[in-house]
Amino acid sequence: MSQPQTRPYAEHRPAYHFLPPAGWMNDPNGLIHFRGEYHLFYQHNPESAVPRNIVWGHAVSKDLVHWKHLPIALRPDKPYDKDGVWTGCMVDDGGVPTAVYTGVHPEVQCIATSKDMMSWEKAPENPVVAAPPPGLQVTGFRDPYVWRSRDWWYAVVGSGIRDVGGTILLYRSRDLRRWEYLEPALVGEKAKTGEMWECPNFFQLGRKWVLWTSPVPLGRVLYFVGTFRNHRFTPEYQGEMDLGGCFYAPQGFRDARGRRILFGWLWETRPEKMSVEAGWAGVQSLPRQVSLSPEGRLLFKPVAELSRLRREHVNLPAQLLRSGEEVVVKGIAGDRWEMFAEIHPQEAQKCGIRIVHTADEAQVTTVLFSQANGTLSVDRSHSSRYEEVARDVRSAPLSLKDGEPLRLRLFVDHSVLEVYANEHTCLTSRIYPQGTGGYQPHLFAEEGTARLMRIEGWILDAIW
Ligand code: FRU
Repeated sequence: MSQPQTRPYAEHRPAYHFLPPAGWMNDPNGLIHFRGEYHLFYQHNPESAVPRNIVWGHAVSKDLVHWKHLPIALRPDKPYDKDGVWTGCMVDDGGVPTAVYTGVHPEVQCIATSKDMMSWEKAPENPVVAAPPPGLQVTGFRDPYVWRSRDWWYAVVGSGIRDVGGTILLYRSRDLRRWEYLEPALVGEKAKTGEMWECPNFFQLGRKWVLWTSPVPLGRVLYFVGTFRNHRFTPEYQGEMDLGGCFYAPQGFRDARGRRILFGWLWETRPEKMSVEAGWAGVQSLPRQVSLSPEGRLLFKPVAELSRLRREHVNLPAQLLRSGEEVVVKGIAGDRWEMFAEIHPQEAQKCGIRIVHTADEAQVTTVLFSQANGTLSVDRSHSSRYEEVARDVRSAPLSLKDGEPLRLRLFVDHSVLEVYANEHTCLTSRIYPQGTGGYQPHLFAEEGTARLMRIEGWILDAIW
């Protein structure tokens, strides 16, 4: 297989987001900060850009920005995982990195350990959880997520109760090998939150507990913030992690500095044939630091280390943005950039940023804040001349408090657009314009004058 850089659609291949050398990638797995290094494993098919013959790919980083690819960690080579080494997490068991993952047989939980983070040994006790709890009619049983509390390991396994809804099944163990089933820590309602909860993460954040999960068939990521007592989780706040329609199966971990950091799978929204010709599919989001707002909602911001990618810097003076006029940020162009915009919409009913393809201005993606609707949206109905790629408008609710400015942070990386608004609203999208040359941001307001308070941008370095 030739390198994806020399294949068709090379202009769509991200240059500072994480992706494998070639082939398919989906969920992030086994995230851990171990002995000063960040390890990222991921669901991977190295042979082709299709979700088949999944293995655990592996990469390591000292700064969450620059990555080194390492040999494949886990392959489906045992009777209990021959149909798949699926999603799981990684814990530090007294100095021994231990992966807890789903083997497909059809779905059982397994562990594998390593002495050097390079070669992996599957435990003789596997599968360590050989079946779902007796008596439960489950719609799935996978993606274990493990944490330690005093003398116990606890795990939640993503599941669902037939005709009832998604659930997380709670287990505990002394040694990661013998597991005792406790009970469902939370059961959802099928009509509202889906029938099966994939890739749950459950952890304490400050004084609260957080559950996030990727429900089937929603294809989005829900989160709940609440309390956890006597093995029961009681949600108090519910939100969505990213409404751009391309973000799924995030996994988080706590690093040595105490930060909670996640990566999410950014899937392709082009036909499989295009991905196969390109030779790759799937990207990891930028690492996002997660915290809790005073109202109990989750806040997301790209980790500070990403500023290491910054090169040429642009700064615009504060100014008025009148309806019908545009402010073109001339210093920002090309395929890799970051931009921060602080805007007071004032009486402007709409304002935002058009991301205009420099070689063909008819290909434009619009990030739009509508005061009237209380929404932030990403409109990619004109993003590409390729008719077969997704062209839709995705919106998230967003209302500003009195006097609160709109604070937009945008990251463009070839076919990836990540939008963060006021740290709590994320819209991540994929765009596939025809032709090379990159993009330029144009700020605009409609139906009234807005005030630009601060505009800054940076051309970003490539890591690959
Ligand atoms: C989520 C998921 C997981 C599963 C894995 C298989 O995208 O379906 O539930 O473990 O992908 O690759």
